[in-house]
Amino acid sequence: MLKMLLVTVASLAATFHSSMAETYDVGDALGWTIPPSRAAYSNWTSGKSFAVGDVLVFKFTTGMHTVAKVTKTNFDSCNPAGPISLTTNGPASINLSTAGEHYFLCTIPGHCDAGQKLAVNVSAAPSTSPAPAPPPATPSPPPVAEPTPVPTPEPTSSPSPSPAPKTSPAPAPSKTGPKTYIVGDSVGWTIPPSGFSYQTWARNKTFNAGDILVFNFPTGAHDVVALTSKAAYDSCNGTGVTPITAAPARITLTAGEKYYICTVPGHCLAGQKLSINVTGTASTSPAPGPSPTSGGTTPSPSSGTPAPSSPGAASAPPPPNSAPTIAGAALPLTFLAVAFAFFY
Ligand SMILES: *[C@@H]1O[C@H](CO)[C@@H](O)[C@H](O)[C@H]1NC(C)=O
Ligand SMILES: *[C@@H]1O[C@H](CO)[C@@H](O)[C@H](O)[C@H]1NC(C)=O
Ligand SMILES: *[C@@H]1O[C@H](CO)[C@@H](O)[C@H](O)[C@H]1NC(C)=O
Ligand SMILES: *[C@@H]1O[C@H](CO)[C@@H](O)[C@H](O)[C@H]1NC(C)=O
Ligand SMILES: *[C@@H]1O[C@H](CO)[C@@H](O)[C@H](O)[C@H]1NC(C)=O
Ligand SMILES: *[C@@H]1O[C@H](CO)[C@@H](O)[C@H](O)[C@H]1NC(C)=O
Repeated sequence: MLKMLLVTVASLAATFHSSMAETYDVGDALGWTIPPSRAAYSNWTSGKSFAVGDVLVFKFTTGMHTVAKVTKTNFDSCNPAGPISLTTNGPASINLSTAGEHYFLCTIPGHCDAGQKLAVNVSAAPSTSPAPAPPPATPSPPPVAEPTPVPTPEPTSSPSPSPAPKTSPAPAPSKTGPKTYIVGDSVGWTIPPSGFSYQTWARNKTFNAGDILVFNFPTGAHDVVALTSKAAYDSCNGTGVTPITAAPARITLTAGEKYYICTVPGHCLAGQKLSINVTGTASTSPAPGPSPTSGGTTPSPSSGTPAPSSPGAASAPPPPNSAPTIAGAALPLTFLAVAFAFFY
């Protein structure tokens, strides 16, 4: 009721002063995207004064970004849950129809954290002076899983002399079985936050044929494709290769140089890419297991369900000790949960 009244007043004001209303292209030439610096959008607003009736135009490619109006709390924490409004088609024109502070962010995971967020302070239109608009009732976002627990990277026991990298949650670092690596650990598979790179993550790790890479990401937000050429990897060209879209994506390694990227436009160029060298099976006992034919680039269990229940190649060669397999299956889910808590 009150909101309707305010909107009506604001509309009248906007109509009355339509000649004075200004239209702003958010970010100017930058548009609405992951900015090169986190301060880019606050920098853009500094020096500008917005008034009721003004229009913000968020220019972006549909599918690559979104515009969500959120509460200050969610703005500060980059929480896209329960937005006040959400626009997924670009370009998006948003009328500043009420006075007060307005908060916008992109809901694509990682984007807000990388600086794709905008706060504007809107003053009442000159002629009318509606009481400072009370912030719209917060649609009470679902309680986010409290203080995100620090992921405990080390499962159960780890015989110390093993050369397991400190940051790798690889379960069962026994030298007989294949290792499972969670790509990026708690960061998961996303546009890397500043200060993080997948090459750094991989630097001190040794990858052997038969080891498994797990790419954790919200299905739909990213994908994974294995490229065969360094040139394609260097240029972020995933043309002609079918990506794995269901998460978590598990890839069993074969020997050689491997190149992985996300084919969502802009993501690889923003650093969502990983290349590793995989050594042959000679060093570890060549488990009788994974037939090399099904390994490598097409590990997706065809169906889109992330449930590891699908039969077929996955269940065929159980290692001698079944415990690591269970741990390997449960761990990605744990990290997926952490990843979700992280982003939402
Ligand atoms: C902010 O703007 C100032 C001047 O307009 C510029 O010198 C500075 O580099 C900008 N900073 C960022 C992070 O864009
Ligand atoms: C914004 O206001 C203009 C007129 O001021 C109107 O034509 C347009 O439909 C409005 N857009 C939205 C998204 O409400
Ligand atoms: C918005 O303007 C009001 C009134 O001028 C002020 O109290 C408030 O601090 C401003 N908010 C921001 C984020 O600048
Ligand atoms: C890799 O190992 C070297 C020394 O062995 C160490 O200085 C460096 O910090 C390690 N890098 C990472 C990313 O762990
Ligand atoms: C990307 O790769 C495809 C297939 O290899 C090739 O046809 C195309 O020319 C490449 N595009 C660029 C921009 O290099
Ligand atoms: C893989 O090994 C080749 C040759 O030893 C080297 O040129 C390349 O930089 C390595 N790549 C990575 C990602 O370590």
